[in-house]
Amino acid sequence: MAVMDRSGSTAVEVRGLTKAYGELTAVAGIDFEIRSGEIFALLGPNGAGKTTTIEILEGYRQRDGGEVSVLGLDPGTQAERLRSRIGIVLQSTGVDRYLTVAETIAMYSAYYPHPRRRDEILELVGLEAKRDSRVLKLSGGQQRRLDVAIALSGDPDLLFLDEPTTGFDPSARREAWEVVKNLAGLGKTVLLTTHYMDEAQYLADRVAVIAGGRIVESGPPATLGGRDTARAVIRFRLPPGAVLPADLAVSPVADGMVELVPETLTATLHRLTGWALEQGIELEDLSMARPTLEDVYLELTGAPGAHHGEHISQEADRRRRRRGSLVP
Ligand SMILES: Nc1ncnc2c1ncn2[C@@H]1O[C@H](COP(=O)(O)OP(=O)(O)O)[C@@H](O)[C@H]1O
Ligand SMILES: [Mg+2]
Repeated sequence: MAVMDRSGSTAVEVRGLTKAYGELTAVAGIDFEIRSGEIFALLGPNGAGKTTTIEILEGYRQRDGGEVSVLGLDPGTQAERLRSRIGIVLQSTGVDRYLTVAETIAMYSAYYPHPRRRDEILELVGLEAKRDSRVLKLSGGQQRRLDVAIALSGDPDLLFLDEPTTGFDPSARREAWEVVKNLAGLGKTVLLTTHYMDEAQYLADRVAVIAGGRIVESGPPATLGGRDTARAVIRFRLPPGAVLPADLAVSPVADGMVELVPETLTATLHRLTGWALEQGIELEDLSMARPTLEDVYLELTGAPGAHHGEHISQEADRRRRRRGSLVP
């Protein structure tokens, strides 16, 4: 591990990480790096290996192979030291629902050598007005913010958020997103996992797309999969009987629509619309588009994994067990 950067500019470094469960290879040799202060997303379908990876980095699961450095520590052998410097937000809440918000934070803060001030935490996650409410009275979004508050109680440098908004309604997701953005404003480093493309796009400075235990693509969301330079596609509906000039080579798509992928977009659009005007033809449903992050993601990962009942309950079980050993 001597080659790894411990200057503080790199928060997480992963090289050749592997993990198998019996016959099943969950993580098949992945590499990535997270710089300090960065929001980094592992984006992938169910079963891609996201939770396995994050649990190895947290020190909750042993790796089979590869090198891992988290805040300059090896989570495989230095998990105890690591624990007071990281914050963890699990997929589901397991806190005592009869405690108040303030009591819950106080309870967790007590485990840490240098806890963050409770009022500061409440403000950060926007729960000041709920400080004396019992947890069971909180909405889903507020409970999630409480989870983040708990993760912040030890004032960690690095936060892990495993699917922070899965199962949320749109407004709760927005609330959770704003909290994550606030974390970045504090200079915290964040590793989150998600299977939502829009979440990765909105929150992450950089994204690694993971599928079948491998990273298939990584980079800033705007340029992922080369989508910033990908060719635009022009689509339109050609009226029956209309014959395009030979230099406008289109291919049919569904529903009587045709498409063409021009080398020079402006010139081709001009040529096409010029021809249509001359002919007095209306090009119905004319559109021009570049691949969205979703297009890129679907292409990289194949169709996103269906929610698999067995997998989900197995995961829920695992999380309940972990909650008991959450604090250092
Ligand atoms: N404790 C476990 N025992 C056996 N297989 C597991 C265990 N945890 C996860 N897996 C399997 O490993 C693969 C990756 O799972 P996971 O890391 O949870 O992926 P993700 O978080 O991306 O959904 C899946 O095929 C999953 O079923
Ligand atoms: Mg998972």
